[in-house]
Amino acid sequence: MSNQDLASHYPKSITLADGANVEIRLMSEADRDPVLSFAKALTQEDLLFLRVDITQPQVVDEWINNLKTGHSTSLVAYDDEGLIGYATVHRNPAPWTRRVGELRVNVSQAYRARGLGKNLTSEIFDIARGLGVKKLMANMTPDQRGAQAAFRRLGFVPEAILADYVEDRNGMSRDLVIMSYDIDGHSDTVADAVRI
Ligand SMILES: CC(C)(COP(=O)(O)OP(=O)(O)OC[C@H]1O[C@@H](n2cnc3c(N)ncnc32)[C@H](O)[C@@H]1OP(=O)(O)O)[C@@H](O)C(=O)NCCC(=O)NCCS
Repeated sequence: MSNQDLASHYPKSITLADGANVEIRLMSEADRDPVLSFAKALTQEDLLFLRVDITQPQVVDEWINNLKTGHSTSLVAYDDEGLIGYATVHRNPAPWTRRVGELRVNVSQAYRARGLGKNLTSEIFDIARGLGVKKLMANMTPDQRGAQAAFRRLGFVPEAILADYVEDRNGMSRDLVIMSYDIDGHSDTVADAVRI
C-alpha cells in the first residue's frame, strides 16, 4: 500500500466479535499523548516486558520520528475512551535486512483475547507487504506465554532462542524468543542451499 493508499484506507471502523466498536487509525504525531496514557495504564508485568519503554516521552517522540522517516509504520486502535492498542512494523535501513520488519503489537488488558490483536496484525500484514517486507519478526521472552500462544495462532513460528539476551526493567536477564512469519513463504530454504 502506498502512503496515499494508506491515507485513504484509514481511519477505519471495525466491530469485534463481542460487538465492541473500535476505530483503527494510521499513527501520527496526534497520538503521542494517547500512547503515553496507554503506557501509564499498563500493568507492572506488561511494563517488565516492554521492548521499548513507551512510558518515556522521548521514546515516543523517537517512535514518531521513525514514522516521519518511514522506518516505522504504525496503526493505533481507539474506543470511545482512548487508545486501546497498537501494531507497528519497524524496518532497519541496513540493506541486508531491508526485507525484514519487526512487528510489535500491544493491546490493553481490557481488550485482550477479544480479537483486537488479530485485527491489528492482519492490517499491519497488508501494510508490511505493501512496503516490500518479506519476513516479520516478533521478539518476546519465554515468560510471555500468552503472547507466544497468540502469535502462534496468528501463524508465527519460533525461530530462535537467544540465551540471556535481554535485561528487563528490574535488571534481570532473560532469554529472547524470536518468532517469525514469512509473508510470501520461504524462498531460500535449507534444501535450496544444499543443492548449490
Ligand atoms: C499478544 C497480544 C498482542 C495478543 O492480542 P489479543 O488482542 O489479546 O489477541 P487476539 O484476541 O486477537 O487473539 C489472537 C489469537 O491468539 C489467541 N490468544 C490470545 N491470547 C491468548 C493467550 N493468552 N493464550 C492462548 N491463546 C491466546 C486467541 O484465541 C486467538 O486465536 P484464534 O484466532 O484461534 O481465536 C496481547 O496479548 C498483548 O498485547 N500482549 C502484551 C504485549 C506483547 O507481549 N506483545 C508481543 C510482543 S510484540
